[in-house]
Amino acid sequence: MAETVKVLLSEEEVAKRIEELGRRISEDYAGKQVHLICVLKGGVFFMCELAKKISIPVSMDFMSVSSYGDGTASSGVVKIAKDLDETLEGKDVLVVEDIIDSGRTLYYLLDILAKRHPNSMKLCTLLDKPERRVRDVTVDYVGFEIPDEFVVGYGLDYAQKYRNLPYIGVVEGVE
Ligand code: IMP
Ligand code: MG
Repeated sequence: MAETVKVLLSEEEVAKRIEELGRRISEDYAGKQVHLICVLKGGVFFMCELAKKISIPVSMDFMSVSSYGDGTASSGVVKIAKDLDETLEGKDVLVVEDIIDSGRTLYYLLDILAKRHPNSMKLCTLLDKPERRVRDVTVDYVGFEIPDEFVVGYGLDYAQKYRNLPYIGVVEGVE
């Protein structure tokens, strides 16, 4: 069977939800500047779209992490492949993720970032698979809670493919 992608969340649904999140974040951080941190590569489309829907001052930085694991499950021991350019000292930090699965990667990452003395730190994810959670992480803004299925698109990949899909889909027909 050929590999196909079934739409789970359409481009319109995703856009509408990001607009709502942007509005909420703008209200919650009113009078402040929010420092968005993108966890590459998956978070890049979401963070860029979200930033455009935030009406208060925004700054952005990017980091890339890889987690040591057995290939399918993350171990939670995170290696920083590309660190942030700027310090977090005194900033109101919002970490922007594509998806939270076991929570291991973020649990470790948030611990590292908290030690850099931000004024505040919150977490925003486009997708959340709560059923899969192994480590307890507090998520402040969630785009969509989704069932335990492997999803692609909007930055998320399957073997580096499908990141460019403008919607969230489920890959079918994989051997
Ligand atoms: P965690 O440490 O298990 O929470 O791993 C989270 C990371 O695994 C995410 O940032 C994604 O890069 C990846 N991931 C988890 N679930 C999916 C999925 O359904 N599709 C694509 N990548 C996923
Ligand atoms: Mg990610």
